[in-house]
Amino acid sequence: MRVTEQAANIGVVGLAVMGSNLARNLASREGNTVAVFNRTYAKTDELVTEHPEAGFVPTSSYEEFAAALQKPRTAIIMVKAGAGTDAVIDELLRVFEPGDIIVDGGNALFTDTIRREKAVRETGVNFVGMGVSGGEEGALLGPSLMPGGPDESWATLGPILKSIAAVAEGEPCVTHVGHDGAGHFVKMVHNGIEYADMQLIAEAYDLIRRGTGKSPAEIADVFAEWNRGELESYLIEITAEVLRQVDAATGEPLVDVIVDQAGAKGTGGWTVQTAIDLGVPVSGIAEAVFARSLSSHPEQREVSGELPGWHDADAVPPVRDADAFIENVRLALFASKIVAYSQGFDEIRAGAAHYGWDIDLGAVSKIWRGGCIIRAQFLNRIADAYDAEPGLPVLLTAPYFVEALGRAQAAWRRTVVYAATAGIPAPAFSSSLAYYDGLRAERLPAALIQGQRDFFGAHTYKRIDKPGTFHTLWSGDRTEVEAEDTH
Ligand SMILES: NC(=O)c1ccc[n+]([C@@H]2O[C@H](COP(=O)([O-])OP(=O)(O)OC[C@H]3O[C@@H](n4cnc5c(N)ncnc54)[C@H](OP(=O)(O)O)[C@@H]3O)[C@@H](O)[C@H]2O)c1
Repeated sequence: MRVTEQAANIGVVGLAVMGSNLARNLASREGNTVAVFNRTYAKTDELVTEHPEAGFVPTSSYEEFAAALQKPRTAIIMVKAGAGTDAVIDELLRVFEPGDIIVDGGNALFTDTIRREKAVRETGVNFVGMGVSGGEEGALLGPSLMPGGPDESWATLGPILKSIAAVAEGEPCVTHVGHDGAGHFVKMVHNGIEYADMQLIAEAYDLIRRGTGKSPAEIADVFAEWNRGELESYLIEITAEVLRQVDAATGEPLVDVIVDQAGAKGTGGWTVQTAIDLGVPVSGIAEAVFARSLSSHPEQREVSGELPGWHDADAVPPVRDADAFIENVRLALFASKIVAYSQGFDEIRAGAAHYGWDIDLGAVSKIWRGGCIIRAQFLNRIADAYDAEPGLPVLLTAPYFVEALGRAQAAWRRTVVYAATAGIPAPAFSSSLAYYDGLRAERLPAALIQGQRDFFGAHTYKRIDKPGTFHTLWSGDRTEVEAEDTH
């Protein structure tokens, strides 16, 4: 095939659902001509045939793809993350020149992005790892975009990305997050927060259903109502839609015929693993990841079904006032959600410090207001908090959140008590509350843990009343000696 040389100002490699939709989004914006390439040509042909209005420049080899692009060339890769991304980068480096830009829009692990950026930079080509959120619809109509990479690339890419991103309150949902892997790091944490948010909503649904006996359709009304208040968000909105859906084959609520085993593509797990490495307690996100794992072990659940619960009928308080109970669950959900977001932003803050990224946390919360899965009004409050105090060490200590958490206290605790008493699992609700109380505590039992560590491993401890490091001679006369710091 012969393509018009240098006809396109941007190219897309990888034309599965995300790539084709992103390519169509790009093509629909004034001034863009988009070159497209896919390893299997049939997909390129299908896209170009189905969307003549897009004016795509189809290419069937990497050489043609490079020839179709104006210099400096800009290509966005949207292929299966991992080996696929490396394979495409190798091919592009063969045909690209110094100054060209390769953008990886796949869900890459940020450490892979750091590695790739370093390797590609040595060839003189610029590499940008970019988080893309919003699923297929977002890719087509306006995603939230989280590009990392060098400043020079942002100068070229910025205007193009602004033109295709979602718009929230007049502002495009894209910002240059930071260098090398910063964009994919932030996208990873976005997904971790998404896991926590979804788990909290699922727990709220379960508590209301089992606590009040309301039907999924009735609970859909509850979520629709909540979506008009401080919980307003895409996830609450779609929860109402899912709960209202009736299965055409059985006439049952769809949620009752779906197998109760939640899948995962791995980004939630990455968020938790990374948080562990950074020493950041993202307990709400971790519980959300583990709750999905627990659900996905039918063999364990089957043999555990007969495990004793609290069978004393009087022990489980019946929900007498359904409206009051639902309001308690709403407040508990809001408080737990604040904790989950606070933990996620804490991880970004710690990641930025560790990897040397200059990440504007307020700007990150703003680009999540539109296009992405966790989009919500609430993110404006996070932006306000960081605008007022950019170095805020704990998000939930900002005045807006302090007020909300104060208002939710009794309801949050009653809801967790009810869940525990009734035997309804609410791991994200209860771990969020435990984290909150842990932060608030004047003294933590960590002192005892230090004593235990010193007992069995001579790991030493510090004292509250004088400087230095100490060890008790546990297997000797139990006197205390000064010791070297072995922390
Ligand atoms: N789906 C979402 O909601 C979503 C949201 C955000 C980000 N993402 C990320 O966006 C990327 C694309 O997602 P997707 O769902 O559209 O597609 P996908 O199923 O993850 O990947 C399929 C695409 O990758 C290409 N590919 C795989 N291995 C390749 C290789 N070795 N060399 C060249 N091309 C290769 C395939 O080409 P062939 O047609 O030749 O097989 C096809 O174009 C992924 O990284 C995904 O994680 C997805």
